[in-house]
Amino acid sequence: MPVTALVSAKSCGVTTSALALTLASKRPSLLAECDPAGGTLRAGFLQGEVGAGQGLYHLAAAERTGPEALAGAFASHLWPLDEAGHRKLLPGLTDPGQAGALSRTWPMLSEVLHVMAEEAGHDVFIDAGRVALESGRLHTSLTPAPLLHQADLVLLVVRGTEQSLTLARHIIEPLRTELAERGSGMDALGLLLIEEGPARAHQVADALKTPVLGALPFEPAVAGFYTNGGRPPRGYARSGLLRHARTATEQLEAAASRRRIQQQYPVRTGSVQISGMLQRLAERGGRRG
Ligand SMILES: Nc1ncnc2c1ncn2[C@@H]1O[C@H](COP(=O)(O)OP(=O)(O)OP(=O)(O)O)[C@@H](O)[C@H]1O
Ligand SMILES: [Mg+2]
Repeated sequence: MPVTALVSAKSCGVTTSALALTLASKRPSLLAECDPAGGTLRAGFLQGEVGAGQGLYHLAAAERTGPEALAGAFASHLWPLDEAGHRKLLPGLTDPGQAGALSRTWPMLSEVLHVMAEEAGHDVFIDAGRVALESGRLHTSLTPAPLLHQADLVLLVVRGTEQSLTLARHIIEPLRTELAERGSGMDALGLLLIEEGPARAHQVADALKTPVLGALPFEPAVAGFYTNGGRPPRGYARSGLLRHARTATEQLEAAASRRRIQQQYPVRTGSVQISGMLQRLAERGGRRG
């Protein structure tokens, strides 16, 4: 299954869309909340259910011990989003000041996420926050650059509004160059369209010269539930957002498979320690605490 990283130019719906995709996928799924500006699901969707003792920040210390320690910490810091533990969350940073400590953790965390996708069969989604540039390159502490370089797909989330497209125009070229020179190729880049505003998918694709790999409807009630938590709105299970998110996961899987075939790159295999640890986790399912 693919590892898909989601980014935006500015607050377009990365966290909401990543959560929708994770909850909608037909397969086991994992959302890694890796926005260096801090995670919002803990205080929002999860309404404070998960304490600061759980989550991404704690992987930094484990990584310094080695791959097996990181894999173990990763497994123990996952939070199940459903009873069966098929949908899991790695909760994000509670304080943006913690991001610096993660810069050397990203490469090995990326390896762990690929093992979850390719060996443990999870649809993996990364909330990578807003794109921050420094001299035309991805900023090394304000973006989790190694996660973007190694992702099978990088989705720039945009809306069909002039404001959103104007901001996206400035980052699309640097993103493409970054993925061509340091990532898995410029064709890893695609768009996820939130259908707000007048521009249709083909117009957005033309404007940004990038394919639209998925589209989600603009549905404030369901999006508000993902942002703030609480009770799902009426008709949630049949909502357009959930249904289209499910379709989008299939489209993303197909796009990632096409890339793999075109590029003839093999499915990566992780280190023995990481693979073994995560295989046991996959067999066991999620657990709370
Ligand atoms: N499909 C949608 N339909 C309606 N509203 C949406 C949709 N997606 C997101 N929103 C709303 O837009 C706002 C921003 O969404 P979200 O927090 O997901 O953006 P973000 O890109 O993660 O922002 P940030 O960069 O600040 O973390 C929220 O109020 C959310 O409920
Ligand atoms: Mg966000």
